[in-house]
Amino acid sequence: MIHPLTDADALRFLAERSVVHLAGVGADGVAVMRPLHTALLDGDLVFHGADGAKGSLAGQTVSVAGHEVVANLPSWFFHPTRACPATTWYVAAEARGVLRPVEALAEKARALAALTARHQPEGGYAPITGDDPRYRAALERLAVWRLTPTTYRSRVKLGQHLPAARVADVMHNLWRRGDPGDVEAIKRIHAAHADAPWPEALRGPHGLRLLPAVDAPRAAEAARLLEGAYWLRGQPPDRVAAAQRSATAWVGAVDAAGALVACARALSDRVRVAWIYDVVVAPSWRGRGVGAAVVRTLLDHPAVRSASAVRLGTVDAAPFYERFGFEALGRLPGSVGPAVEMRLSRSLER
Ligand SMILES: CC(C)(COP(=O)(O)OP(=O)(O)OC[C@H]1O[C@@H](n2cnc3c(N)ncnc32)[C@H](O)[C@@H]1OP(=O)(O)O)[C@@H](O)C(=O)NCCC(=O)NCCS
Repeated sequence: MIHPLTDADALRFLAERSVVHLAGVGADGVAVMRPLHTALLDGDLVFHGADGAKGSLAGQTVSVAGHEVVANLPSWFFHPTRACPATTWYVAAEARGVLRPVEALAEKARALAALTARHQPEGGYAPITGDDPRYRAALERLAVWRLTPTTYRSRVKLGQHLPAARVADVMHNLWRRGDPGDVEAIKRIHAAHADAPWPEALRGPHGLRLLPAVDAPRAAEAARLLEGAYWLRGQPPDRVAAAQRSATAWVGAVDAAGALVACARALSDRVRVAWIYDVVVAPSWRGRGVGAAVVRTLLDHPAVRSASAVRLGTVDAAPFYERFGFEALGRLPGSVGPAVEMRLSRSLER
């Protein structure tokens, strides 16, 4: 069941947008709308900038809106000829309240610190304080506002009125289309429709569910599965996990309890070549078709299926890959140990 966002979730959603729109009618009666960065400070939204048109909104009730497009769904997902079912699934939220200018240097500094932490999370600057001479002139010059939201509105449009089977069709079509973002959209849509059947193309053997994308917790699980793999000797788990997250394509298999039992990743240019790495199945699941299902799905992943060649290196699993059509090319140059390079060539029309 999909509900509108709670007030707390709407506030968090707005603070997570890279840009929100601030709109209102200035004291002079002129409508103003500006795209802005925002961040949370003590439960308020804060903004900064030059004191231009926004200044005329000070003291007025304004609206701050943000949205996230989950997926653009073309009409052919729903109907073979009619254009009308084309739609967008999205989440949108709006908060209203009075826009207050911030004057005190210490408060301005806290607002700017919140904004910088939000939009430059990697750091690389001295803490922003009102009495630091490096920041004083900028703090005096910059205009800062804060808004304590008093009312919220939100809209979540993720196909909640469709029967579960239609939602499953949408997820299937997203997998087939494979535009950037479609794999993430499948994850988002399924999280909102626990009752919808998992797309056929992503069902593994023995009731395992194949995941088409990796997040931080799954990457850490993958690193644990890969612990001891001969080709990763000397690589600390956090680097192994980071490499999982940076892959262009990733497929994992999870059991009924939600534990990751297998995974594989690929780096792909989507056109000429994809390289498969880090294929692993938990020891208790080996020999039951799980590795084959993960590799088959990775080869069909939207970021891999259009590559005309798929390559990999292996020491002892060449026969496992031969059944997908991979051919051994010879010794993998620069490899640690006697690894062979394998290639799967696919027609350029694909
Ligand atoms: C290699 C690995 C991924 C295979 O996964 P799996 O789930 O055990 O394999 P499957 O059950 O899907 O096997 C499919 C077929 O390949 C065969 N196969 C599996 N591993 C093989 C191997 N190392 N060498 C030769 N054939 C192999 C199986 O016998 C099976 O054949 P069948 O269909 O005739 O019964 C898994 O054994 C593993 O994680 N190994 C340790 C990590 C590793 O070596 N990864 C590969 C690095 S290149």
